[in-house]
Amino acid sequence: MKVFKCKICQEGYLGDAPPTHCPFCGAHQQYMIEAEEFELPIYTLTDVSRQNLEEALDLELGNAEFYFCAAAMADNVADATMFKRLAKVESEHASTIVKELKKQSPDISRDRDMCSNMNRDNLMESNQRETNAIVHYTRFLGEATEERIKEIFTSIIEIEKDHLSLTDGRF
Ligand SMILES: [Fe+2]
Ligand SMILES: [Fe+2]
Repeated sequence: MKVFKCKICQEGYLGDAPPTHCPFCGAHQQYMIEAEEFELPIYTLTDVSRQNLEEALDLELGNAEFYFCAAAMADNVADATMFKRLAKVESEHASTIVKELKKQSPDISRDRDMCSNMNRDNLMESNQRETNAIVHYTRFLGEATEERIKEIFTSIIEIEKDHLSLTDGRF
């Protein structure tokens, strides 16, 4: 057994081989490195990226709240499982962002009025939310000059594209 660490969310993973996707933030395997090779990135955040990370944080918190609600409203076990996992992945993205902003994690509400009571509507809204996140993060990536911020947005765009594929053609 070995110790791996995700370069994006900085969570650890114990296993014989790196997972295909980080179990916490969904980062692809190339970001899962042996923990002893991990180095904390040192850099200064620009005002533009600070603003963009704040906007990304709001997006992730809103998506996490939506997914916790959608999990509670799902009409089948597969979608309930998917939505709950998506809620936790988006929550991990919010944690990743607050680490870069060096601030406290805001609470994520478990309000039942953050989504529709119809599963099909929530599948559609998931698709719209992931598309919206990809559009915003692509702009934020283009505006970033810091290597660390480019790495985060590059990885999170890949993850949100994975999420988008889960609901494509399902509504
Ligand atoms: Fe991760
Ligand atoms: Fe997502």
